[in-house]
Amino acid sequence: MPELRLGVVGCGGYMRNTLYPMARALPMRLVAACDINPQNLEKFATFFYTPRVFLDFQEMLAKEKLDAVICAANAQTHFEVAKACLQAGVHVFVEKTPCETAAQARELSELSKKAGKVVAVGFNRRYATAYALAKDIIASPSFGASMYYSKFNASVYGSNDYFVFNHIIHHIDLARFLLGEIKLESTLWKKESDASCASVISFTSEKGVIGTIQCASMLEEAYPMERLDIAGTGGNVVVDNLKGLRWNRTAPARDKDFASPLLEGGDCLSWNPSHGYGLGNGVFSYIGMEAELAAFAEAIQSGKANGCVAIGDCVGTMSFMEDVRRVAGEKLGFAVAGA
Ligand SMILES: NC(=O)c1ccc[n+]([C@@H]2O[C@H](COP(=O)([O-])OP(=O)(O)OC[C@H]3O[C@@H](n4cnc5c(N)ncnc54)[C@H](O)[C@@H]3O)[C@@H](O)[C@H]2O)c1
Repeated sequence: MPELRLGVVGCGGYMRNTLYPMARALPMRLVAACDINPQNLEKFATFFYTPRVFLDFQEMLAKEKLDAVICAANAQTHFEVAKACLQAGVHVFVEKTPCETAAQARELSELSKKAGKVVAVGFNRRYATAYALAKDIIASPSFGASMYYSKFNASVYGSNDYFVFNHIIHHIDLARFLLGEIKLESTLWKKESDASCASVISFTSEKGVIGTIQCASMLEEAYPMERLDIAGTGGNVVVDNLKGLRWNRTAPARDKDFASPLLEGGDCLSWNPSHGYGLGNGVFSYIGMEAELAAFAEAIQSGKANGCVAIGDCVGTMSFMEDVRRVAGEKLGFAVAGA
């Protein structure tokens, strides 16, 4: 396959430090970059030797013959860029949160089908090794998933609304990825300040699992800490901070003075990234950033959008988030933007 001609939109911290560097193994060639902020654009374009730069994404799409765009800016821009890309016949990857409403997600999904172009979404947890392993484990009928509990703490956000909209969404999407569709049952909220809060969100899943997402923006560190625990009739799975998975299976009979439980079944199987040097995609590839971009390229080349997290898969995430955001606005005292 010939290399895809790539444009990027939004050359801020995440694009420059994480997303674009993670794209280095893709069959793509960077031909243009766009940002409304000239300093961010210049910094990105200088470091990554970008041939042409634009302050307006519409102008970039009109002047460059692009095959694909990667966009990391904000939800409103993600929606506008995705729509403009589809109108221009260009595949697009947008970061989370992919748009502002469930209705916009539906609209993009329809446009994507009509245009025959991919709209992929950067919910990287769906590609994280430990969560993908957890999904495989709980899919087995003998696991019998019945209870779900996830807990995370992020650092203080710009506002409580933005925390709900831009961070809790990761964990809403993760719950849907693991359990299928979920329905909001109840919530608890604690307000620390206008930029820091905690919440317990309870839900039921279409397959009868009951669950909670405990979340807060009170961490005194840059990167969120998170834990997942899924209990079933045949054991439980714990994912600790994306870096470790334990599958606690029913213990074998302790009727020998020695045991080889890994061979005989029972006891705990676990996974963690080895601490050796990471060849290929790199030391942190288990977090899913490289894999989500590789899936985007693969979906373009194979013509099968469902190989990656397509915007149509995110409609349920967006509509659950709308329900949570409405209650959060009432309980924490903020007006929901755009409501
Ligand atoms: N998946 C993850 O774990 C993860 C982590 C960090 C950030 N993100 C997402 O990435 C996105 C960007 O985050 P960031 O931290 O880089 O923010 P940032 O503010 O540093 O960068 C955003 C950039 O987009 C530019 N921009 C805004 N509107 C634009 C427009 N209309 N056209 C062109 N450029 C425009 C801004 O000027 C800025 O340079 C957010 O949506 C965020 O949620 C995801």
